[in-house]
Amino acid sequence: MTASEHRPQPAAPRVAVVGPGAIGTTIAAALHASGRTPALYGRTARESLELLVGDARISVPGPVRTRLEEVDTEVDGRVDVVFLSVKATQIGAAAPWLRALCGRDTVVCVLQNGVEQVAMVSPHVAEGVTVLPSVVWFPAQAQHDGSVRLRGDARLTVPAGSDADRIAAVLDGTLCTVEVSADFPAMAWRKLLQNAAAGLMALTGRRAGVFQRDDLADLTRAYLQECAEVALAEGVALDAGVADGILAGFRSAPADLSTSILTDREAGRPLEWDVRNGVVSRLAARHGIRTPVSDLVATLLAATSDGPG
Ligand SMILES: NC(=O)c1ccc[n+]([C@@H]2O[C@H](COP(=O)([O-])OP(=O)(O)OC[C@H]3O[C@@H](n4cnc5c(N)ncnc54)[C@H](OP(=O)(O)O)[C@@H]3O)[C@@H](O)[C@H]2O)c1
Repeated sequence: MTASEHRPQPAAPRVAVVGPGAIGTTIAAALHASGRTPALYGRTARESLELLVGDARISVPGPVRTRLEEVDTEVDGRVDVVFLSVKATQIGAAAPWLRALCGRDTVVCVLQNGVEQVAMVSPHVAEGVTVLPSVVWFPAQAQHDGSVRLRGDARLTVPAGSDADRIAAVLDGTLCTVEVSADFPAMAWRKLLQNAAAGLMALTGRRAGVFQRDDLADLTRAYLQECAEVALAEGVALDAGVADGILAGFRSAPADLSTSILTDREAGRPLEWDVRNGVVSRLAARHGIRTPVSDLVATLLAATSDGPG
């Protein structure tokens, strides 16, 4: 027997996914396919999760636990990494899972849209628990049969640091690539601009083809320029062509390309309007910047999402 065979192996990190929807299923499947099956906590009970990647199907054994009493603290308690993939509107409702699962050394990696992930999740975890934001770049879509289809390469960006290294290690060698960025705020704001513009699809009730209209393109450009001005006031200088670049991306996308905020509208679900659109006007007000297009878009999305009427 060699010396290395005697050496105790480090325990595999204990990983949980809270909110195993489209994004959470993708991460759970990536982990499972590499032999690191996570514990699953959600709102809807399921025996397993299914991810479709091209012609392949990855089946992640469950169950998806839905009751706090089901957290076995001997087995699941105090996990090393939690991937939080509920919608931003669902953070408060999912907070009890975080309290049950997180110990001092836990990293909660937030898989959501927006630039306020740390501010929104931190109040729900104990002191010492790290909340790590991310940018989720891949589209994943729930299918009618409950499976999730990954559309594109799975990729996350996290801010550089030792916590990022832990996330990168957990996902190392899986189908989900982790990029560690020294300029994370710029990445997060660029994605925010993309999401903000996609809000116009929810307002018009139309897919990416709607950006072919010149009048809507002009409106989008004006909106994105306001967003970039607010980013700058927040200390993030985006490149001068960012508005035109994002607009060009929508105009050259397949006309039937959708976005999760449009899907949510079509399904009559609450919209993540505040973290994707409202945030721009909220931050602008703090800096005394006028954002008339953003204000109008945010108000219409808020009313579309939350009513009354
Ligand atoms: N989907 C994409 O392509 C995409 C791309 C980039 C970024 N994002 C962002 O990623 C985040 C997640 O999006 P998503 O599309 O994955 O949403 P989703 O499919 O709706 O998944 C959310 C999951 O959280 C579960 N959930 C709701 N309340 C819960 C609670 N109290 N406790 C535990 N679980 C709960 C939901 O359960 P139910 O099954 O009961 O609803 C669902 O499984 C959002 O911020 C979104 O904007 C999504």
